[in-house]
Amino acid sequence: MLSTFSFDPTAFNRVLALWFAANRRDLPWRQPENARDAYRVLVSETMLQQTTVKAVVPFYERFITRFPDVCSLAHADLEEVLPLWAGLGYYSRARMLHRAAQEIVARHDGVFPVELNRVLDLPGIGRYTAGAVTSIAFDARNPIVDANVARVFSRLFLLEGDLKNAANQSLLWNRATQVVESCNEEFPPSVVNPAMMELGALVCTPKNPACEVCPVSGFCGAFKTSRQSELPFVAPKRQSVALQDVCAFATRKSKSGSEETLLRQRSHDAGIWWRGLWELPRTTRQPNESAPDALRRLFRDELELEIEVGAVLRTVSHGVTHHKISLECWSGILPNPNVTSSIRWFAHDEIAALALPSSMKSLLSWLHKNAEIGQGSLF
Ligand code: ADE
Repeated sequence: MLSTFSFDPTAFNRVLALWFAANRRDLPWRQPENARDAYRVLVSETMLQQTTVKAVVPFYERFITRFPDVCSLAHADLEEVLPLWAGLGYYSRARMLHRAAQEIVARHDGVFPVELNRVLDLPGIGRYTAGAVTSIAFDARNPIVDANVARVFSRLFLLEGDLKNAANQSLLWNRATQVVESCNEEFPPSVVNPAMMELGALVCTPKNPACEVCPVSGFCGAFKTSRQSELPFVAPKRQSVALQDVCAFATRKSKSGSEETLLRQRSHDAGIWWRGLWELPRTTRQPNESAPDALRRLFRDELELEIEVGAVLRTVSHGVTHHKISLECWSGILPNPNVTSSIRWFAHDEIAALALPSSMKSLLSWLHKNAEIGQGSLF
């Protein structure tokens, strides 16, 4: 529903931008050498999708040190890119970023396109990302709506119902357009757009918004009607599904005497979790299947190897989308350890350079610290 309150976007931009100048977090992608470089803005915006600012900072810094410009990323092998993403989750974002860099080099001579439609044509770049990159790097008057902006607007303009529905999406993007089109030289898009997101992150939070310090409470329908804790409407969470997974920790001593661990590379097929990442061979237990039986099935049917299953070493829990996974790790011995390109022995220092899901990374580092290595000599 449209608010009955009149809205003056120029006055809104002024108070918002002044608040931002005094309150914005000092983040690496806001340094001038990064904020005016569309490639670096794209890296930060891609990382920030579905990941918190705090978690992104070290990943961003490592990524930009290794791939400081679009050409360095475009010319890198995907196998070099994924390890720098491991731990951030949602790896398809890294693949798309890599492909976008390759297209910028192939189709735009390595120069980031300025025009919105050309940016939208790049792989993996949607309306939000294109608006964020072009407004932040080029001061283009392009709107953005992310979860923070949607929450701020839902309260300002008293939007009822699910913000994802088509009517609300259209209202949100229209308001974002109205705001950015009212930008001027003093309060440009590169300030106003991030300021709206920052307001959502720091003040107009999902729970207990800090309306007493909000610079735009005078514009806010929810504040005026005391409805800030009711808005936005939050759809009930999807019920979680429990999975019982098992994995095998098999090790050997190499000819040079170093300890090696057997890892498997997950398939690159679309639609599976952790595509292309390395892991201890794992599977999901079927109904009424014991953990050792599940591991024997995995090795026999999928890897064409025999395994002697030993003892359970550790159980960890982690979540993926709406799944709650309990992962049991068992020691294993391979009597006939022939390997292929997707199942191989790795020394510890080689594992450090591989892309592993973060739950697997911490499990392996626990095992390497706590398990006595050597075929069959665990514990
Ligand atoms: N979230 C995602 N991108 C952001 C930005 N540029 N500023 C503040 N919050 C953000």
